[in-house]
This record gives sequence, C-alpha cells and structure tokens, in this order.
Amino acid sequence: MSDYQIKSLANYKSTYQKSVAEPEAFWAAIAEDNFVWHKKWDKVLEWDFAKPEVKWFEGAQLNITENCIDRHLEKRGDKTAILFEPNNPNEAALHISYKELSNRVNRFANVLKSNGVGKGDRVCIYLPMIPELAVSVLACARIGAIHSVVFAGFSSTALATRINDSDCKMVITSDGSFRGDKTIDLKGIVDEALLECAVVETVLVAKRIDSNIQLKSGRDKWLQPELDAASPICAQEIMDAEDPLFILYTSGSTGMPKGMVHTTAGYMVYSAYTFKNVFQYEADDVYWCTADIGWITGHSYIVYGPLANGATTVMFEGTPSYPDCGRFWAIVEKHKVNQFYTAPTAIRALAKESLDNVKGYDLSSLKILGTVGEPINEEAWHWYNDHIGKKNCPIVDTWWQTETGGILISPIPNVTETKPTYATLPLPGIQPALFDKDGLELEGNKQEGSLCIKYPWPSIARTIWGNHDRYRETYFSAFPGNYFTGDGALRDENGLYRITGRVDDVIIVSGHNLGTAPIEDAIDEHPLVAESAIVGFPHDIKGSALYGYVTLKGEGLSKNEEDLKKEINQLIADLIGPIAKLDKIQFTNGLPKTRSGKIMRRILRKIACGEVDNLGDISTLLNPEVVASIKANVL
Ligand code: WTA
Repeated sequence: MSDYQIKSLANYKSTYQKSVAEPEAFWAAIAEDNFVWHKKWDKVLEWDFAKPEVKWFEGAQLNITENCIDRHLEKRGDKTAILFEPNNPNEAALHISYKELSNRVNRFANVLKSNGVGKGDRVCIYLPMIPELAVSVLACARIGAIHSVVFAGFSSTALATRINDSDCKMVITSDGSFRGDKTIDLKGIVDEALLECAVVETVLVAKRIDSNIQLKSGRDKWLQPELDAASPICAQEIMDAEDPLFILYTSGSTGMPKGMVHTTAGYMVYSAYTFKNVFQYEADDVYWCTADIGWITGHSYIVYGPLANGATTVMFEGTPSYPDCGRFWAIVEKHKVNQFYTAPTAIRALAKESLDNVKGYDLSSLKILGTVGEPINEEAWHWYNDHIGKKNCPIVDTWWQTETGGILISPIPNVTETKPTYATLPLPGIQPALFDKDGLELEGNKQEGSLCIKYPWPSIARTIWGNHDRYRETYFSAFPGNYFTGDGALRDENGLYRITGRVDDVIIVSGHNLGTAPIEDAIDEHPLVAESAIVGFPHDIKGSALYGYVTLKGEGLSKNEEDLKKEINQLIADLIGPIAKLDKIQFTNGLPKTRSGKIMRRILRKIACGEVDNLGDISTLLNPEVVASIKANVL
C-alpha cells in the first residue's frame, strides 16, 4: 500500500488543491495504489446531478471483503481485527484476528448460500452489537448479497416496514440482547414483524442470552449448527464497482424511511481513505468507535473503513452507564485505546456525572478524540478536551450523513486546526457551498446558509431503494446542480465550517435522526387524536428533545391527560421505537396552519423553545386565534 496519509498542513493544502482541480486523477491514484482490483475501471467518474446519476470506477471489478480481510492475512493474519467487549465487564473480551475473521466470514457466507441467498438478494440484519453482526455484514458482502442492517432498538412495525420496502428474503437476528442488566426479546420483535412480511423465507437466530424462545419450523434456524457444518472457505463473488453493497434506512420528511443505497467501489475507497486520515491510524493502534453498526457510523467506521486499513477495531456491546458511568474509560484503559470516537449526547450524559467516574482510569493511551452525529456544544467540547483528552488529544468534530457514506467535513488531527463547535474544513475531494433562500450561492467567508456539496465524492449514496424520484426531489431539487444536505452551516472569517443544524423536518435526538412525519403518523393512530405536530426543543443531554402538540377529538377531552400521554408514548414506542418518545406533550384545541392547510411548525418550534415574543407575523394564518391559547399553555 502506498501511503495516502496526510501528514502536514502543507500536505493537506496541496492534496486539497489537487482533489478539486483534478478530482478524477486524484481518486484514481488513491484507488489504484491502495486496493485490490480484479479488473481496473474503464472510467473514473460519470455524473450528472440533474438526472441525478453518479458512477465511480465503472467497469472495475472487486470484492470489498478481499480488501477488508484476505489481503491482510499474509502480513497481519494474527493481528486482532475485531476486539469485542461484551456488555458484562466480567465476561472476557474476544480478540478476533484477521485469520479468525476470515474463517467466520467465509463460514457465514456459505450458510447464506446454502439457505438460498445469492448475489443481489437483500438480507435484513437485526442484531445487537455482537460479533455476528459485523461477520454477517461481511458475509453478505462476500457473496454479493445486499445487507440492510436495522438498528435493534427499532420496533416490530419499523422493522417490518424496512423488510418489506426492500423485499428481504432473509432476516438474521438473535434470541435476545442485553441492555445493562436487563434483556430484550429481539426474536419476539422479529416474530411480530414477520406477521406483516410475506417475503421472508428464512430467519437465522444467533444465541446470545440463552432465553427460551420458539423457532418457527420451516422458517427459523439456529445459526451456530449451520456455521459448524459450513466450510471455512468461500470464494468471493466478483462484484462490479457500482453493484449495491448495502441499503441503510434513514428518516425523511414523510412517514416512509429512505433506503439509501451505497455501492461497492466508491464506498470502499472513501470510507478507507477518510478513516486513515481523520483518525491518523498507525499500524499498532487500537481504535474504538462507540456507535452501533445499525447506523452509518458503524458501517463506515467500525467495519469497512478500519478493516480496509488492517486496523484493530473495538466493538462494544454495552452502554456507557453500565455497570456505572466509568465504563467507557474502563474500556479505554483495559484495551489501551488510541482513537476514541463517540457522540455528543454520550459526552453530555457523562459530563453530568461525577468526575470520579473518570479519575480512577489511565487514559494516557488516547491520542485522538472524535465526535459525530450532531453539533457538539462548547461546554461538552471542553469537558471532553479537559477530562478525557487532558488537553493533549485533538478533537475531530466530524460532519457527515447516512447519505454521504463517509466523513465530509472534519479537522485532520495534528494537521489542521480544531475549533470548538466547528467541523472546520472539507476533506480532500469535498466541495462545500452555502446558498441563501433564493438559491444564490454565498461566496466568500463570513456567510451562513444552506449547506450543499457541488461535486460528487466516491461514497455519495446513489439512489433511494425503489424510489429514484424521491432521491432527486430530496437532494437535488432545492439547489439545482448541487447535492443539498438538509443542514444549515456558517463559514467563519477563516473559511471554517460550523454546522448549525437541520433546516428540514428532521430532528436529531441523541444523535438519532427522527423525521417529524412518522412520529405524527404514529400519534394520529390513537383513536382519540385528531391531529398532531412535532418539533424539537433544546435538551441538556439529548441535544434536542421532542415536543408534541396534540389536538384531541371531542371524546378525548374528558379523558385523563396523563393517561393519554402515556398511551401516546406507548404507541410511538410500538410503532417506531423508544428513541422517538416525546419529552413533552401539550394538548391544544387546534394547530396553526397556513391558508393552504400546512401546519406552521416554525411557530410551534419557537413556542416550544420559549421564544414566544418572536413569532413574526401570524395574521396570514388560517386560524391565528389558536396561537394565543397554545402560548398560554406552553409546558
Ligand atoms: C447531523 C450520521 C453537526 C447533521 C453520520 C447531519 C452533525 C445528520 C454532525 C446526519 C456534526 C452529523 N456536527 N451535525 N459533526 N454529524 N450531524 O444520517 O444534521 O445519522 O445531516 O449520519 O446528523 O445524521 P446521520
């Protein structure tokens, strides 16, 4: 492998220049020098944001698992690839070497095949953070099946929607999962979901909690006996560069989640390149990203990016507060973690606890700290810097999205500067731009507007599964010729970017994207609810929390409000998942609407945020009178 690591500011500047001046030559050189190809591409890039269409490395052939596993076997076969830290600290950690990973992935791939899964088939993975999750993802990639990982905190309804949207023929799950000292019946959730999913033929069940579950004959199988019987050798499927690698669902502004489709070669090149540079990974480092593989962060920066670089990547099953709030730091000390990557919500939650949770631990192995998922506030940034990094570790505030596949804006540690609350500078190949409301680009520094990207990078999602029109509409219509991120940003006097938050109907709660529409749909299912509107309001730990305005039908008015609130939150937990529960519910006798009947969330948001004196002109509303009563009863 030639070295694609950026090591100095001058190096960053010249690399960035080249990446913008000659993007194709830039990415071709990185792809050629650092990965194994079975056939080279015919064309580096073909694109048209108007269609929209993006293709990288067309004509090339490869398999991403050869790049993530096989090619490391000779040089570092005994090196730990995945370091599994269980939920319970008394259970031994598991060091899975590259050789062992190869063995596990190949066996699993053979099990997929013997159960009728082949290239292009969709496989839904609904597992806790246990090794089988990473292994099953890679096993799909080995045989060219398209994985669709669904976060194991989603409800059966949410799971069923995702299985049906992409017609998954198999589901991989476990008998249950641990959450602190409790267990969760994952298989029960799958069984319930599958009542709605006729397409699923097989369910493979990993054993994790030794519960007494029922297997449905003809459909469900224990995973382990299948693995035991399978060969540890499985030829890789040779994939085209643009063959889909995975689907990952993210929330949107309608009730239907968007199945973002990522393809093989571009995703591999970009996730590997950015992993190396943003975390400045060196050969013997132990790297830990605390995300769940159910989110894009886990796909790109627990599995594919680190493994493509031959790294040791920690996979943690548990939570930051079990058995106590020192767990993260205990793990850093235990495994001598060098790079630590987490979410601002976790930092805020831990910063609220006593510093005694940090003090006892030796954190001197840490070199680089990272955050992702939402804007990090200044206070949390300083706590992280002072108490975890001991002012010695650069903090990389990495901005990106499920749709972008990899980090687009971030400091490069020890190379470019950091600035609290700023994601700072674009990585090579990324051309950000800010636009005003009228669609005009805001040139120069000291500007604030809607954040777009002007030019394709290798890991941009290629479409929304089964709905290319929605892909065009969502990302390429607001600012024609550009990819629109849905985020607002400002560029300071030195050209550094600060992400200011979503400008659309997505609210980020504890780092999880939640669309307002699916939550409102869930509430409206309640027989006594007439209509509802959801907005975000600032929350100390979650960043944003959800505020629901709910109008009841006539019969609902005589019911006990506290009971109704519980029922509404239970409905949301059942239909979406507990992460989408509302912190506050205000019953209203109407919602402010435009004359065309659109709910004015902007006004409701201001009221929920306490900005009641600054609502702007409400006289054009269809029903301005409801605003006064909503203001009077705000929670
Ligand atoms: C937000 C997560 C500020 C942003 C990788 C984005 C951030 C959405 C940051 C994508 C950051 C992510 N600073 N905001 N460093 N990182 N976001 O798809 O609003 O789960 O659009 O991908 O999270 O969330 P997603």
